[in-house]
This record gives sequence, C-alpha cells and structure tokens, in this order.
Amino acid sequence: MSEGPITPPMSPGHSEEGCMEDSITVDSEPRFSGPTQPPMASNLGQAQQEGKQTLNEEMDALKVTTPPKPPLRLLEDEQVHVEKSGSLRLKDFEIKGTLGTGTFGRVLLVRLKTAAPATHNYFAMKVLRKTEIVRLRQVEHVNAERYIMSRVRHPFVVDLYATFQDSLNIYMLLSYVPGGELFTHLRRAQRFTPDVTRFYLATIILALKYLHSFNIIYRDLKPENLLLDSRGYLRLIDFGFAKIVDDRTWTLCGTPEYLAPEIIQSDGHGKAADWWACGILCYEMLVGYPPFFDETAYGIYEKILRGYINWPKDMGRSSRDLIREFLHPDRSKRLGNMIGGPQDILDHPWFRGVDWDALERCEIRAPIIPHTTSNDDTRHFLHLPFPPVEEMPGLVKEEQPLPLQQRFDPIAYQFLEF
Ligand SMILES: Nc1ncnc2c1ncn2[C@@H]1O[C@H](COP(=O)(O)OP(=O)(O)O)[C@@H](O)[C@H]1O
Ligand SMILES: [Mg+2]
Repeated sequence: MSEGPITPPMSPGHSEEGCMEDSITVDSEPRFSGPTQPPMASNLGQAQQEGKQTLNEEMDALKVTTPPKPPLRLLEDEQVHVEKSGSLRLKDFEIKGTLGTGTFGRVLLVRLKTAAPATHNYFAMKVLRKTEIVRLRQVEHVNAERYIMSRVRHPFVVDLYATFQDSLNIYMLLSYVPGGELFTHLRRAQRFTPDVTRFYLATIILALKYLHSFNIIYRDLKPENLLLDSRGYLRLIDFGFAKIVDDRTWTLCGTPEYLAPEIIQSDGHGKAADWWACGILCYEMLVGYPPFFDETAYGIYEKILRGYINWPKDMGRSSRDLIREFLHPDRSKRLGNMIGGPQDILDHPWFRGVDWDALERCEIRAPIIPHTTSNDDTRHFLHLPFPPVEEMPGLVKEEQPLPLQQRFDPIAYQFLEF
C-alpha cells in the first residue's frame, strides 16, 4: 500500500509559533509526549485485518512469558546526589531565559547568584505547575522522575542537582546542556550519515543499557529529549515517563511515533519498548523522519501495527537489517531483548569498529561540536518569551513559612520529596 507523500512531521513544540499549548490530547497532535489515549479498538482491528501477517498471531505467541529477571543493580543502593534541604535555595537563582516548554511547565536557564565568579553557575531549571500535574494525574510520574534522576549518574544522562517547591510549582535543578536538541540538528542537516547516526545511537544504547541494569525503562526516547553537551555528546533528559519495572507495566504513555506495538495494544510493556524506540530513532536519523507517521495519532498507531516500512533506495542493507531487528513486533525476537540482552546490540555487525569503552569515556570526537561562546549561550534553543515571574513566586522571593504551608496544603503533600 502506498504511504502517500513523505514530508517530515513537525513537532508541535517546534512549530514556527514557538511554544506548544499545554494540551496532552494526542489524537490530533502527533509527535507529542503525554499519557496517551488508548487507540480505538475498531480502528486498530481494521488495521490488523489489513496487515499481511496478523499481529494477533505474533502476540499470542508472546503469552508464554518468561519470569521477570531481577535487576543487575538496585537503585536504592545507589548514592543519592540530590539533597532535600541542602544549602541551595530557590531565591539564590536568577532567571536568564526560557529554554523550552513542555506538557506541564517550562525549562528555564538560571544563574546561581551566590556562585563565585568564573565557576560553574548556569543551570537549567525545570518548573512544573503542581495543579497541572495533579489535573493530568502525573503525580506518580513526577515523583518517579525525581527518585530515578536523583540516583542515576551516567555520562550520557543529564545530572539532577537539587529539587524545590513553592506554593505553585515544583522545580528540578539540572545541568545546563548548551548544544540544543538533537531534533534541531537533525532537522537542520535533514538526515545524518550512517557514521553520524552510529555515534549518536551508540551513546543512547549505552545510556539505556545502564538504565535497564536497574530495571528502569525510559519510555520517551525521541530527538527532542536528547541534547548535545558542549563536547557534542548526547545527554538524555526528561525522565517524566521513566519507571522501575521488574517485568511489565500497562500505563499508556510516550510519543505516538515512537510507541512499540505492545504499548498501543495495552499488552504490557517493558525494556523491549525502549529498544523498539531505538529502531525508530535510527530510521529517523538516517532518513530524516520516522518510519510511521500520519496526521493523527490513530493513523500512526494503525501504521505501527500494520508494520509496513518504506525503505529509501539508498539505505544500506546493514542499516535496514539493524532497524528491522529493532522493529520486530515480537518482543522475544527483538534486538536487545533476546537471551543475549543488550550485548547483542553491541555485537551487531552494524556497530563493528565501535570502541564502546572509549565511547563511554568520551574519548571519541563527536560529529557535531556545538558552537557556544559563553556558558549562558542559548543560541541552540528557540528564543522563547521570558516567563511571567509571578508564576514562579519562590524564585523571586522566599515564601514564608513554606514547611508549615506544605503540611496543610493537600497539593504540596503529594510532592513531599521536593
Ligand atoms: N538540562 C537542560 N539543558 C538545556 N535545555 C533543556 C534541559 N532540560 C530541558 N531542556 C529544554 O526544555 C525542553 C523540555 O524539557 P523536558 O524535560 O523534555 O520537559 P517535558 O517533560 O515537558 O517534555 C527540552 O526539550 C529542551 O529543549
Ligand atoms: Mg521532553
């Protein structure tokens, strides 16, 4: 079946108009992460009937499941890198601009006013509106984001230093990653060569392998959540959907283009869904747009379940093989999720020649070194409007008495770790 004209989809967060609205409905706005709507059974039933090989047969084969494996390491044993009531206070930070907007709030560039000159004093502050988190039933996700980010430390994962809350928002203080989103660089280049793709994909695989060793699934892989640091290495940001899962979980969330079939079918998903997303990301980097896209989220779901992939003629056979192996609808046959685990990916012929240890030590020259002239340079981000300061009361002046207020505030009570 013809897939129609191929034009790269734009993320609503990257439209010419700038920031996106705070809707989480994915029906009409693909390329937007959020707790997703379950697909309409009638639509998908039809999609399956049209498919050459029915996905149902393959899904039935999956019902014979293996018992969950314990994690290689326990997150609770890891050092906590974030202090709850440390020496930092919200009002020690000055807002310098807006780096991005998201579903529940925004990310600001801030400067630590009390830092000594010439020290590392610029940070990214993720600000989430508490009433929005509650309204969109994301309390558990936000608390998991804090718990996970406070303990993971990896060269390809953004660092969380501190968290705060005031009467309106919760705040996460992160390292500022100045090179902008991989999304921006990819759209500018249109597509990447296999060598450039290999570099980025290899770093993501190491980051996911690390997270999976704690049984953390990430669930929101896409070029908007990958930032280039000053050396040109990727940093995974946005742990809003990350979860510790011993076996499978059933919450529908993620970004339509990147959802694995088992997520769409509410069949329970686990680490294998992240490896599926690697296949989508690899295709998007090599081709310039993802393999399954449509005007609507339902249209995307149908295409994912139908499984038809349009291969550009100039794509090499080995790249095609790698992507096919990641995009296997049967999780038990999907690359990264078989008996050999992620090591199968590292040993895959497509990655031949990659020095994985040197890469993890950041000893390999990155393909794009972002140009920046100062440590508050924001040229790689959209120039979004300055946020209204009254919406961030705790950043302007210390609110009194916060601990007392938190004890009686039913919303603050849901974010006790912040
Ligand atoms: N540490 C950071 N450094 C620089 N920019 C960031 C950082 N964290 C987030 N951003 C920018 O803000 C955007 C939204 O942040 P993200 O954590 O993905 O929020 P959301 O959960 O709303 O998607 C990102 O896509 C990126 O452009
Ligand atoms: Mg994001």
